[in-house]
Amino acid sequence: MRNALLGSILTLAAGFTSFAQTASVNFDSATRVFRLDGGNMTYAFGVNQRGELQAIYWGGRLGATDVIPQAVPMMEWASFDDSYTTTPQEYAGWGAGLFVEPALKITFPDGNRDLVLHYESHTIGASGLDVVMKDIERPVFVTLHYVIDPDTGVLARSAAIENRGKESVTVEQAAAAAWSLPPAQYTLSYLTGRWAGEWTLNQEKLDAGARVIESRRGTTGHQANPWFALQAGDADENHGEVWFGALGWSGSWRMTFEHDQLDGVRITGGFNPFDFGYVLHAGEKLETPIFYGGYSRQGLGGASRLLHRFELTKILPRTAATASWPAPKVRPVIYNSWEATEMNVNEAGQIALAEKAAALGVDRFVMDDGWFGQRNTEHAGLGDWYVNPEKFPRGLKPLIDKVHSLGMDFGLWVEPEMVNPNSDLYRNHPDWVLNFPGRPRTEQRTQLVLNLARQDVRDYVFGFLDKLLTENDISFLKWDYNRNWSEPGWDQLPPNEQKAVYVAFIRNVYGILSELRQKHPNIEIESCSGGGGRVDLGILRYVDEVWPSDNTDPFDRLSQQDGFTHAYTPQIMMAWVTDSPHWLNHRTTSLSYRMLSSMQGSLGIGADISKWNDDQTATVKRLIAAYHQVQKTIVQGDLYRLISPLNGSEFSATQTVNQDRSQSVVFAFIHSTQEGRGFPILKLKGLDPSGQYAISSIEGKLRAGSPTTASGAWWMNHGMEMDPDFRGDFQAAAFRLDRK
Ligand code: DGJ
Repeated sequence: MRNALLGSILTLAAGFTSFAQTASVNFDSATRVFRLDGGNMTYAFGVNQRGELQAIYWGGRLGATDVIPQAVPMMEWASFDDSYTTTPQEYAGWGAGLFVEPALKITFPDGNRDLVLHYESHTIGASGLDVVMKDIERPVFVTLHYVIDPDTGVLARSAAIENRGKESVTVEQAAAAAWSLPPAQYTLSYLTGRWAGEWTLNQEKLDAGARVIESRRGTTGHQANPWFALQAGDADENHGEVWFGALGWSGSWRMTFEHDQLDGVRITGGFNPFDFGYVLHAGEKLETPIFYGGYSRQGLGGASRLLHRFELTKILPRTAATASWPAPKVRPVIYNSWEATEMNVNEAGQIALAEKAAALGVDRFVMDDGWFGQRNTEHAGLGDWYVNPEKFPRGLKPLIDKVHSLGMDFGLWVEPEMVNPNSDLYRNHPDWVLNFPGRPRTEQRTQLVLNLARQDVRDYVFGFLDKLLTENDISFLKWDYNRNWSEPGWDQLPPNEQKAVYVAFIRNVYGILSELRQKHPNIEIESCSGGGGRVDLGILRYVDEVWPSDNTDPFDRLSQQDGFTHAYTPQIMMAWVTDSPHWLNHRTTSLSYRMLSSMQGSLGIGADISKWNDDQTATVKRLIAAYHQVQKTIVQGDLYRLISPLNGSEFSATQTVNQDRSQSVVFAFIHSTQEGRGFPILKLKGLDPSGQYAISSIEGKLRAGSPTTASGAWWMNHGMEMDPDFRGDFQAAAFRLDRK
């Protein structure tokens, strides 16, 4: 009987073993309720009696036969809060009496700014659900897109705003989605930072009012990352209900978290409305970025495991040569020359480093900044993408051939969106940069931002990258971006349309990346922006890895990696071993500590290896070989942050378990032993309780008498005990467990 009420049902097969779930999208035409199920999550909203779309439920998966009651508008709260504002709307236009954050705000040419969206129609198709809304009077249509992931339940939401009228309108604010949560006390977790200090995890109570995290910089930014988690009540790392989300947008963005006067809790996010104004001409459409949301009952740890799985299986690109399902191939262990040579690169010097790197067991050799134009300092050369003839008189081929003959592939640094005023490109095209004519042009790192929104600039950038990849056997690009926007004018357009730069620039970045990948299907790309300034689920559709920070100090990296992995998978988290004492904070650490810190992500070597002695070379060679054996478990397994390095912790530890629970890898770190306190017993997680696991050392020892083989139940209940001599300053150990 109930089935007869269903408008239609879509069932998607799951692609991943441990989340063997299905997805379904239903519309109950009697109650006018939409219901999406995927993974362990159900999401529901409905059409209320006024015709608005109203949020109903977001949480753990409900029974398949449970009937979700129809949406009933909330009542007016005295004369000050009408029902339009107290009702949790799915995507509210700013109009009527709305006092909370709107999803959409539009100004019409006659001065009208009132926008009230009502349900029109919907379609359920192969890729999810589209719901069309329309203003109560004017031909502004909004299509809300919903796609739910069968494995993880992560729901992708976005909106298309369409002007079907005859006159232009200006979109002043456009969210990808608004999410409503059940009334409760929440703790908001979010990530902030600065250059060389990214990925700070902040946690605070979501009190009454609105809390905003954003970037106004034209890019994702180091200062805040478009990810959040909201923990209900006492939920923590390992238990409790957590709602989380991430925006797929690499331009200016904003997320607003509201705890309103009636305890409604709402998250609205999308384009940053600051300095926004997108003119929609008759017949035009604006697609917002995608806002992804998910739910876990296993605390922040469970939330990040879902996000990692989602990123690995649904977001990250695969190259033609390495296409592998469900996850992309593990990252090659790289050597990067930046910290060894900075811009002093030349053929002989790079070949000498390549020979040393190959001897360590490195898979990929990457030449960083300095190889092109007149690039001897940061004051010149950006924009002139020809090989510097003094440094490489025979071109790049002899170096690339040598790297290949040593058994590695070759990667190259580029910074395509930038130009130094001291460059031929700028001398020829001073109008190509973001600027307001007649006004000063603010330089940062003596560079200006090319206006990639312009078609001619886009063509130039695509053209030189395409030529570089066509003429040279290059497997990998490190794509850098070393400043944020200033004076964001686009003087080719009429004054009232220039703000479209906030959208068009980013779409062209994505377009270039996508076209390059199509034309060069084996190319792999890293997103770097002076470290972690451009990491988000938008850019991750086009790049294989990211550079989380220019700070490569192994102790600082423990906290950064802890923050990073709350939102992003270790697969993309490049981590280089560099020199000690560290250039940034002068900290001295052992080579094995540095190696183990980096081995928690995708490993790279960035030290001046020309100075390494035989012992150092042997240590690194041994650990790279050990890493290669367990890398897939580390970077694609389920991550458990066993002991957090935050808040001055003396100790920290992580554990990863692969998908069939046949292997696990544990890392343990001591900051500085106090009062002789021993390392805590590590109670492992996620193992098969009845499986027998043999433990072996990658580095360090267990307490004498510890079993060499024991059940998963033993390792999880009794736990792993470190050797009592595991003490001191900046110590590290790592173990692997293999099921027999
Ligand atoms: C910033 C990057 O984060 C560094 O790794 C390096 O590539 C420099 N740019 C080169 O200018």
